[in-house]
Amino acid sequence: MFAFNQMIAIGSDHAGFEMKEYLVNNLEKEGYHFQDFGTDSEESVDYADYIHPLAKSIDKGSIEKGIILCGTANGVAMTANKYRNVRAAVCWNEQVVILSRQHNDANIIALPARFISCEEALTLVRLFFSTNFEGGRHERRVQKISDIL
Ligand code: RB5
Repeated sequence: MFAFNQMIAIGSDHAGFEMKEYLVNNLEKEGYHFQDFGTDSEESVDYADYIHPLAKSIDKGSIEKGIILCGTANGVAMTANKYRNVRAAVCWNEQVVILSRQHNDANIIALPARFISCEEALTLVRLFFSTNFEGGRHERRVQKISDIL
């Protein structure tokens, strides 16, 4: 469950920049705190340059959860999921968000900025941080994701 003193990692490429700013501006008013890994404008960049440092901070445990954005969410999720302790879930509707937390214990929400609105993104992020992992049989399944690494 989200604690209001918890630091959240956020990062995007140019395609996700506007939505990233929208989320930070709105959620800071609600008490969320962010470490912003960039990018800082709509100038074209390579998403991996911003997502590797963010994912490393979650992998080593210095930040617990994060939000990443690009046009489709796929590039940022693929990058983040290279790290053993990262479970980045591509999320485009409320049910997918809920299940990503309940069943997969996702620790990063990956948002497709070119396919959902800023208002939808805000709703999805709030839901992500207010939904708990169910544990039980899912604990074993989540464990097996990284067993091979
Ligand atoms: C950038 O044009 C776009 O390729 C990127 O934001 C993302 O969708 C890649 O997966």
